[in-house]
Amino acid sequence: MILLLFTVVIVSLNIGEYLIGVNLKNVDTINLSSIPGRQRCLMLAGEPYSLILSEADGISSYKVKVERRLSNLREYFSNKRSVEEILSKGEDPLIYTVYEIPRGAEGELDVGYTIIYPGKIGKEYYFTKGHFHAKDFTSEVYIGMRGEGKILMQDRRGETKVLEIKPNVLVYIPPGFAHRSINTGNSELVFLAIYPSDAGHDYDTIRKTGFAKIVIEKDGKPILVDNPNYVRL
Ligand SMILES: [Fe+2]
Repeated sequence: MILLLFTVVIVSLNIGEYLIGVNLKNVDTINLSSIPGRQRCLMLAGEPYSLILSEADGISSYKVKVERRLSNLREYFSNKRSVEEILSKGEDPLIYTVYEIPRGAEGELDVGYTIIYPGKIGKEYYFTKGHFHAKDFTSEVYIGMRGEGKILMQDRRGETKVLEIKPNVLVYIPPGFAHRSINTGNSELVFLAIYPSDAGHDYDTIRKTGFAKIVIEKDGKPILVDNPNYVRL
C-alpha cells in the first residue's frame, strides 16, 4: 500500500512538471506559489495567456525565478582577483534575476524578464553569463524596459557586435550568435527576452572561452576592450 502511494505521488509530480511545462532541473529557484490555480491551468502549453509587466515583481505569473550571484559567475568575470577578494569577505552580491515563463514545446515562445543590478567587479560592469542557443539556428528578441546597457553578441568565429539596450529599443539577435547583456548604468537594467521554447541554452561554451571583448569602465564611461582571458576555439 505504501509503495503504491509512493508511486502515485512520484508519477503525479512528473505529470505536474510536464503539464506546466517547467523543467525543474537546472534552475535555482522555483516559484509556483505566485500563480493562482486557475491561471496556472490557463498557462498550459498551447493555451493563450496574458501577463502584466511590473516593476515590483518582474512579470506576473512567472513560473521560474533564477537568481545569479557572484559565486555563480566567478568563472565569467575577467578580474579573478577581485572576484575572490569579494567572496573571501563573505559577500556574494546578487548580479541579476530572471523571471521566466517557459512553454516547453516546439513552436511556442518563452518569455524572460531580466533585471541586471548596477555594479562592477573590478572595472567590469555586471552582466549576464551569456550563452549560445543549443539549437544554433534559433534567434531571439530583446526589448529594453528600464535602465541602460549593452548587448554583446558573438558568432562561432569570435566576431563580436555590440548594440545598445534601453527603453523603447528592440534588439534582434540572429541565429548563431552568443549573447550577453551588460548593465553600464547606475540603475537596474531591465529587458524582456522572447525566444523559441525549444532553443535551449548552451552556457558551457562561453564559460570555457569567454567573449572576445569585455565592457569596462574608463573615466566614468563604458568602453569595449579585448578580453585578455579569451580562448579562441
Ligand atoms: Fe538566448
